[in-house]
Amino acid sequence: MKNFSDKLAVITGGGTGMGRELARQLIAEGCDVAICDVIAENMAETKRLCEAEAPQGKIVSTFRCDVSSETDILIWRDHIKSAHKTDHINLLFNNAGIAGGGSFINDDRDHWERTFNICWNGVYQSTRVFLPMLIASDEGHLVNTSSINGFWASLGPHFAHTAYSTAKFAVKGFTESLVNDFRLHAPHVKVSLVMPGHIGTGLATNSRLVHGGKQAELLTDAELIAQQRQITASGTPVDHLSLEDIRKIVNSFGNDFKNKAPVTAVEGARMILDGVKAEK
Ligand SMILES: NC(=O)c1ccc[n+]([C@@H]2O[C@H](COP(=O)([O-])OP(=O)(O)OC[C@H]3O[C@@H](n4cnc5c(N)ncnc54)[C@H](O)[C@@H]3O)[C@@H](O)[C@H]2O)c1
Repeated sequence: MKNFSDKLAVITGGGTGMGRELARQLIAEGCDVAICDVIAENMAETKRLCEAEAPQGKIVSTFRCDVSSETDILIWRDHIKSAHKTDHINLLFNNAGIAGGGSFINDDRDHWERTFNICWNGVYQSTRVFLPMLIASDEGHLVNTSSINGFWASLGPHFAHTAYSTAKFAVKGFTESLVNDFRLHAPHVKVSLVMPGHIGTGLATNSRLVHGGKQAELLTDAELIAQQRQITASGTPVDHLSLEDIRKIVNSFGNDFKNKAPVTAVEGARMILDGVKAEK
């Protein structure tokens, strides 16, 4: 696919980060865009940015859909068919993901499975649901986002990192195996796998919210004490600090993850789209 003009791209997790920047860059290149997310206000901001930059007549549709639910994805697919008046799509970016589920031993099972189900089932089920619409196009491209943690199941010696790593290894294996399957059975559809390192996005902040956590400023004393214990247990002793200092540290996790990364979300999205055009 050498250009995106007059194509339709479906993007999961378009509320912030690489999903938002993919949407903005695609619509600027003349592509219609359909995005989903679970954080409605972020998705509304992506829509506003896209519409401000869109060439005339280009459409960006949004839908609240939890990619870990096949039912949600099926309803979103039907919404796309009617919003874009189409039975086919050209691009599918399985981008939505959250961090979490660090310890298989200590973490709550719901927390572990939420991470795994979004990062793996979200990719699997979305591919299942949208594949017939991709294959129905003259030209199609599937892009699945794994992670550096799909190469190494580790964040370093002080952290367990099981659910996210397990899911991202699965995304890598699934996507690599599809390359030959598509070559044999749907050669007009290409496949790319994205293995990002650290990209400056909302991942740290959004993951806390999707797991039911609060913004740092709303944390109670009991929650701050729990955070203090967790940070100390992970190798950085903070038990001597005040709870207000702990609140600042929790707040800085999200901001530092976004603002101190070696690669921005804009740059990450550009690399992904260049990779699609080059069939990498
Ligand atoms: N940022 C990094 O350093 C990095 C590194 C490796 C891999 N990744 C992967 O890149 C992808 C994009 O993440 P990002 O870094 O842009 O983070 P992000 O948090 O900015 O974007 C992810 C989006 O997915 C949405 N989302 C979360 N759960 C969802 C669900 N159940 N259904 C629908 N949407 C949901 C979030 O609300 C958010 O808008 C993720 O798969 C992530 O695991 C990111």
